[in-house]
Amino acid sequence: VAPLKVGIAGLGTVGAEVVRLIETQARVLAGRSGRGIRVVAVTARSKSKKRGIDLRGVEWAKDPMALATHPEVDCFVELMGGAGDPALSAVDAALGAGKSVVTANKALLAKHGLKLAKAAEKHGGALNFEAAVGAAIPVIKTLREGLAGTGINRVYGILNGTCNYILTRMEQEGLSFTECLKDAQRLGYAEADPSFDVDGHDTAQKLAILASLAFGTKVAQSAVYVEGISSIAPEDLRAAADLGYRVKLLGVAVRTAKGIEQRVHPTMVPKSSSIAQVMGVTNAVTIDGEGIPPITLVGPGAGGAATASAVVADIADVARGIRANPFGRPIGQLRDTKKAPMERH
Ligand code: HSE
Repeated sequence: VAPLKVGIAGLGTVGAEVVRLIETQARVLAGRSGRGIRVVAVTARSKSKKRGIDLRGVEWAKDPMALATHPEVDCFVELMGGAGDPALSAVDAALGAGKSVVTANKALLAKHGLKLAKAAEKHGGALNFEAAVGAAIPVIKTLREGLAGTGINRVYGILNGTCNYILTRMEQEGLSFTECLKDAQRLGYAEADPSFDVDGHDTAQKLAILASLAFGTKVAQSAVYVEGISSIAPEDLRAAADLGYRVKLLGVAVRTAKGIEQRVHPTMVPKSSSIAQVMGVTNAVTIDGEGIPPITLVGPGAGGAATASAVVADIADVARGIRANPFGRPIGQLRDTKKAPMERH
């Protein structure tokens, strides 16, 4: 069988790690996929940057669009980020050409996921995005495949590694918000514009994706109520601790009689609860299914290696010929996102 030919747009920490994993895990991946996986072309802002990866024999496409429509590329891997162009047009063009797309871009999916899923459905390519939520934690697969036969009542958790890292260090070391954010940036956890992390938008994007998969509604970031952590000071965390609580930035999507309520805000959680034990860059997602006790997935929610792990798993699915409905069901079956009125909890 011919190898799957991959084109990668974006060679930052995640992109470079994906190239490395495809090379070092080649035998395992070929065993799982029944065929080889080969990076044939790439594109990135800088051609000369030192990345410590071997790109000999790999073509440099002139821009993301040229890569997305490259006749040699079967699978377009989008790791540039950003809800708009160049990511949007490139992904749209790749899907329009019948190629499969793997992306870690939650902003793009939360805003244009429905349109892109339609293009995938129409032209037959896969649209895989395990890395968009919870990095290495297989939460998309869990909702889409693992719990396909289970009605979901609620999905919630800690979905932003940067915020949890900041809150953890502020609480444990009494450091300032700004200092902790700088470290999160240095460690490669934060978004290019870290206000997406700290103002809660990154969590909202991930929650919108999870809610669509959980409830069969059309993905819509605009349906999420958002409040971030930027005004929280170490004293607030100390005051919460005195009362027996920790502060966590939670994303919560819940089925109510009036629709699907989706909200993101700092929440006081009892110190003895399991969610309060989730520290640092770790993410945790709990899924309440009908008739079964809650399922919680915990693991690294940000960082190059954790994100690349999920990207490579998605590429392996494409190589195997697995093609799931991006949001769990055919587009025609997704219901309109009826925003439930917010209730105070
Ligand atoms: N900036 C994100 C976070 C990266 O901190 O969780 C992973 O999506």
